[in-house]
Amino acid sequence: MRAARMHREAGPRGASPRTDAEGRRMVTLARPCIGMEEKRAVMEVLDSGAIAQGPKVLAFEESFAAYCGTKHAVALANGTVALHAMLLAAGIGNGDEVVTTPLSFAATANAVLMAGAKPVFADIDPSTMNLDPENACAALTPRTCALLVVHLYGLPCDMDSFQSLAERGNLLVLEDSCQAHGATYRGRRAGSLGDAACFSFYATKNMTCGEGGMITTFDDGIAERARRLRFHGQDNGGKYIYRELGFNYRMTDIAAALGLCQLEKLPSMNDLRHTNASLYRRLLAGIPGLILPPVVQGAEHAYHQFTVRVVRKDFGLDRDELARALSRSGVETGIHYPLPLHVYPQFTALGYRWGDFPNAERVSGEVLSLPVGPHLCGEDIAYVAACIREVAEHAVP
Ligand SMILES: Cc1ncc(COP(=O)(O)O)c(C=O)c1O
Repeated sequence: MRAARMHREAGPRGASPRTDAEGRRMVTLARPCIGMEEKRAVMEVLDSGAIAQGPKVLAFEESFAAYCGTKHAVALANGTVALHAMLLAAGIGNGDEVVTTPLSFAATANAVLMAGAKPVFADIDPSTMNLDPENACAALTPRTCALLVVHLYGLPCDMDSFQSLAERGNLLVLEDSCQAHGATYRGRRAGSLGDAACFSFYATKNMTCGEGGMITTFDDGIAERARRLRFHGQDNGGKYIYRELGFNYRMTDIAAALGLCQLEKLPSMNDLRHTNASLYRRLLAGIPGLILPPVVQGAEHAYHQFTVRVVRKDFGLDRDELARALSRSGVETGIHYPLPLHVYPQFTALGYRWGDFPNAERVSGEVLSLPVGPHLCGEDIAYVAACIREVAEHAVP
């Protein structure tokens, strides 16, 4: 890759590009932005001697609920158990069906199985890569009790359509917002758009606790039951009084201290993601066979991922070939996700087969996530874009 051809752009801030031992540029897909504030906050908790769930978790819950605009937020150990506890707290269990997308991280549909219910997949809309409301409607049965929508890559789903579908069928709308911290739909934040929602604070997310999760809801009953489930089913305040089977799904004050600092920085970190995404849009526009993330009216993307689609017949190379070429130039990319969920054993056991969801199947062979996080400056983004342009120029469609 000829460095001289690289577009020079002013970075969105002062971050300087990273290089390897030989001085070659390296653009990593994700890197948590941890500063002195986080280090101080964690040290404070460690010094306090109270390091399990305590006042920091409470403070994090209050701040996160205020940020999302919900009445409640319940902190948990990670996003997967938050999904599990949310489903149980919403009353979902044996014999119930939950309609969801086949294009997501496995935790989404695994959590439905963990709750004892059946995930019923419906195909995605290839233009947004989110669950298609019409396909979801066609998947409803008398046993359907919830729609579990995923704001994939940080792009909010078509919530108006899902809400009207839910009203007609008396269904719950549950959001998997694990990739959508700060995303908005018609001015309201992800996490406040349904009956309950889940977030993940895994290390690569828009904000992180290392590991962590959160349930947000307006519903007093769901919040109360989720709090009970995370603590072995103990009544809140009733030590060693177990109301039902529960778990140890608690978050620690160490993680919550990190989360409080990260939440404060989330708006500026998301602004940097937007700046980087806008730069990609400008520098990658018009490349045949390279489909950029959609812009959806009324929906503000959180750009957890900037995921493009590589259409081989027009681009000249397939997704994997482009990923390998970028890797040779020091650019790390991600594939979210290489296969749709319905082909994995826990779901083929339910009768699903390759061929059931053609949109998700096709798209999973085309998607490529480019580095977009706040750890990158404009020069990094311009370098990635220049690398892609150079590959595209030499590819033969
Ligand atoms: C869409 C989605 N759902 C659920 C999860 C699970 O979150 P965690 O990794 O914190 O368990 C993730 C995180 O990777 C995710 O991206």
